[in-house]
Amino acid sequence: MSDPIFDRIQPEPFKIKTVTPIRMMSKEERQEHIRSVHYNVFKLHSDKVFIDLLTDSGTSAMSDAQWGAIMTGDEAYASATSWFRLEETLKEIFDYKYFLPAHQGRGAEKTLFMAMIKPGQTIPNNMHFSPDRITASGGLMANLIIDEGKKLQSDCPFKGDVDVEKLDALISEVGRDNVPFVMVTVTCNNAGGQPVSMENIRAVRAVADKYDLPVILDAARIAENAYFIKELEPGYADKGIVEIIREMTALSDGCVMSAKKDGLVNIGGFVGINDDTLYEHMQSYTLMWEGYMTYGGMAGRDIEALAVGLREVVDENYLAYRIGQVRYLGKCMQDEGVPITTPVGGHGVWIDSQQFCPHIAPEHYPGIAVTTALYEEGGIRACELGNLAFSKRNEETGEVISFPEVDLVRLAIPRRVYTSRHMEYIAAVAGEVYRNREKLIGFKVKRYATIKYRTLFLGEMMPITED
Ligand code: F0G
Repeated sequence: MSDPIFDRIQPEPFKIKTVTPIRMMSKEERQEHIRSVHYNVFKLHSDKVFIDLLTDSGTSAMSDAQWGAIMTGDEAYASATSWFRLEETLKEIFDYKYFLPAHQGRGAEKTLFMAMIKPGQTIPNNMHFSPDRITASGGLMANLIIDEGKKLQSDCPFKGDVDVEKLDALISEVGRDNVPFVMVTVTCNNAGGQPVSMENIRAVRAVADKYDLPVILDAARIAENAYFIKELEPGYADKGIVEIIREMTALSDGCVMSAKKDGLVNIGGFVGINDDTLYEHMQSYTLMWEGYMTYGGMAGRDIEALAVGLREVVDENYLAYRIGQVRYLGKCMQDEGVPITTPVGGHGVWIDSQQFCPHIAPEHYPGIAVTTALYEEGGIRACELGNLAFSKRNEETGEVISFPEVDLVRLAIPRRVYTSRHMEYIAAVAGEVYRNREKLIGFKVKRYATIKYRTLFLGEMMPITED
């Protein structure tokens, strides 16, 4: 704050003690490897990836304090001291009465959804990260992000906000008994890691109160969201990150958190909840599906690492570096002319595939052309989150019914893993691919993974020039 050179350069606030060597293969090897996995980057062997931007989930580098804490893990089956240590940390940072562990975010969701969703009920959210998990729980999902959040380029600082008028209209239309709770995802992953303002969470709370409904946060990236609030929302500049997280959580009744993001760990998650009866119910679901209520699918050592990681993630110096690094990649990409969504969000940079390859028809997956080219050109693994990942398909045939509103490729940045030199390399590779974009060709689906359209993860693609 007080040191202009430090603020301008934003050097990584850590020294590197352990490294994992990464090796660049030849272009021919890369071309052969991606062809052999049928252009599905999830199947690329990770030792053949130079820079891995598939996800920021579970890919963080842990600190020496976390590795040290791992040795103190108490592996008792029940009532292990590690859990009580984590619980104490959770109570300090999040304003909830009870906490239940889970093996990762989706385990926490299962616990909460089983206890709260009745078949046919609608769950509003700014954007659900995984609509499938809502539908698998018998629910219907409604994405109610503000219109500004759907624009690829915008000046809006809080593009993740919920449209509260639409929320009110939806609840009154379907009836409050058909809505188990209102969800808010902070930051909004599917909209580009975009933050939600405190003002908006307060407005969501007011609508929920009008109908006497609970508010549940998807808190996977809550520390990054809190940093944006501190930086961009009037009245928060002098507040601490923990203070802001406590205010966000106090406006809600519970949360699910994948600790693989802002927990700075490789595995873990939890539920936070205030209601005594719900807590009772959830305990039995945790016990049934995740494990006893004091480990919930995590080893004692994972729990210790998480307790330390949560204290580290709320450090403002860390968050300034984290958000600064992602923004730096965005700036380098813009300097190269690459079309990205703006403002740059919390955990990655999103490429607009259709602007990148206007000559490739939407049904020929421009995003797959981009992910293929990034790997072939520079050994970079990015993730298509667009026409392949989010299209609605006929469950029998796999035929596309409709494409999503935006067609994006995500470059997610793992926490504390890559340096600013890596960011420059990524942007240089993307710039080179962009300058030669007219050479990129479209793709078609060679094999659907299952009738349940999981082609992004398991299916196979082929260039449209091959039959
Ligand atoms: N909620 C959000 C907002 C997420 O981004 C994720 C995972 C989850 C819940 C589920 O957590 O993976 O621990 O079960 N997102 C990852 C990603 C997979 O790549 O964005 P999980």
